[in-house]
Amino acid sequence: MRLILCSPMDMHLHLRDGNMLRAVAPLSAKNFSAAIVMPNLIPPVTSEQMAQSYKKRILEATKGEDFEPLMTLFFKSDYNYDFLKRVKEDIAAIKLYPAGITTNSQGGVENFSLEALAPTLEAMSELGIPLCVHGETSGFVMDREAEFIPIYERIAKRFPNLKIIMEHITTKAAVEALLRYENLYATITLHHLYITLDDVIGGLMRPHLFCKPVAKRPEDRMALRKVAFMAHDKVMFGSDSAPHPRSAKEAPGCAAGVFSAPVALPALAQLFEAADVLENLQKFVSDNAQKIYGLTPPAKKVKLIKKSWRVPDRYGNVVPMFAGEELGWRVDEDTAA
Ligand code: NCD
Ligand code: ZN
Repeated sequence: MRLILCSPMDMHLHLRDGNMLRAVAPLSAKNFSAAIVMPNLIPPVTSEQMAQSYKKRILEATKGEDFEPLMTLFFKSDYNYDFLKRVKEDIAAIKLYPAGITTNSQGGVENFSLEALAPTLEAMSELGIPLCVHGETSGFVMDREAEFIPIYERIAKRFPNLKIIMEHITTKAAVEALLRYENLYATITLHHLYITLDDVIGGLMRPHLFCKPVAKRPEDRMALRKVAFMAHDKVMFGSDSAPHPRSAKEAPGCAAGVFSAPVALPALAQLFEAADVLENLQKFVSDNAQKIYGLTPPAKKVKLIKKSWRVPDRYGNVVPMFAGEELGWRVDEDTAA
């Protein structure tokens, strides 16, 4: 059996910089035609020049592949209209992180009052720049996403023309909120479709499955699967593939992030096939995102074949999701169909 995906896109991706960028970017570029690239570098991407030069480094690292990095800026409450108007050409979205909530987010937002956020959000809304949000409070870890929902609702109501992407949703509550507001959309990761918190800490602790937001309960996973499997118009695939060196994951203080880029499409095909909805994968990994963002990625066909392979233990010094395990689908190397 085979499946051809047209221009699959990863709408939430961490590519890092330097050696890590050079190691991981080709893996995404091989399987995807475009990706929304997160700005949480050190220091974060906050200027036109930083976005342009980061894009150049990504293109350099992915030379030879048809792959478009869609750049983002790290949200600041005081970006002004003129600046955003200029930078709009170079970016696909702006990513908002609450301060300190995840990897490299120290410079994020502390004050979530509409008054504080309004200058940037008003300009974004006028200019049609989508807002991507890491929606977690600093409350109890299992409740962080649900506690953030009133903030999503406030922003969605006040800025009805602003497209708001709830990144990497993990809960039934988030799915319900998403469906309540016309201008809310969401990305869903591979790992949150596969695992629950039990897989992370229910038996032996699995550091390579530890990420933010943490995986939740079976009923949450079920709610995510429901909208992903039907490829609901408001959801799209965003891997949140977030590589950390093995030494940072297998450590007393384990860094948050699952590295899934090289296994994402085969593992999605396996999951969608098991649910008997393989025909909806194209919408989930590309068509919905094209509509939501209003963009056309490079035309690229990626061929998946139903043939098992063993996922490598490592890619360089990074351990992927499903390391050492068998997957039932693989990307055909000589794709170019
Ligand atoms: C991401 C990272 O490592 O950059 N980590 C994660 O656990 N998902 C940041 C993020 O998206 O929260
Ligand atoms: Zn992320």
